[in-house]
Amino acid sequence: MSAPVEVPDLVARTLDLSRRRGFITSTRHETGRLLATLAASREGTLAELGTGCGVGSAWLHSGAPKEARIVTAELDPELAKDVQEIFASAENVTVLAGDWSALEQYAPFSLLFVDVRDVMADMDVLAGLLAPGGIAVLDDFVPSSFWPPIVDGQVDTVREQWLTDERFVAVEMLIDPDASLIIATRR
Ligand SMILES: C[S@@+](CC[C@H](N)C(=O)[O-])C[C@H]1O[C@@H](n2cnc3c(N)ncnc32)[C@H](O)[C@@H]1O
Repeated sequence: MSAPVEVPDLVARTLDLSRRRGFITSTRHETGRLLATLAASREGTLAELGTGCGVGSAWLHSGAPKEARIVTAELDPELAKDVQEIFASAENVTVLAGDWSALEQYAPFSLLFVDVRDVMADMDVLAGLLAPGGIAVLDDFVPSSFWPPIVDGQVDTVREQWLTDERFVAVEMLIDPDASLIIATRR
């Protein structure tokens, strides 16, 4: 056991929503604790692309300073509504219903949790949303012992790009034997 079993109250409520909705792609505890840890070093505005049931936002909220703002966007309006209810009393969290691009108005971000797979390839856009020193966290990669990384017989060009782009200092971290993420800090 490497971390406390208990989770913050808002995280527990979002996990409960995930269970009720049968939503299986919510952020794992390990990633959540990492998000909270990084959030504690941030100020200004933190953003999440793809709210899901709000688990990532709840972890960010648990770590971020009270003065920091957290904005997150979810394409599914029903899901966004459920999550808005959970965060109703969290004044520094804004849950938007709609495409993630609605978050651009709140940039620059000190942290950007990218949890929509298709968006990760839009590296130029994402780089433009981050403040200097801002941190991007990209979730849900399949670990690969090869370089460049290979998944299902094909080079994972998105991961390769994030790990080698001159605008970032980046590292891939194993979260579980079957999952990794990338942390990339904007120079
Ligand atoms: C992997 S889940 C997110 C999990 C969540 N971040 C968490 O911490 O548990 C991806 C979510 O992104 C949403 N999504 C997909 N495309 C989107 C888009 N273009 N803009 C905003 N949300 C999107 C999906 O509806 C889904 O709920």
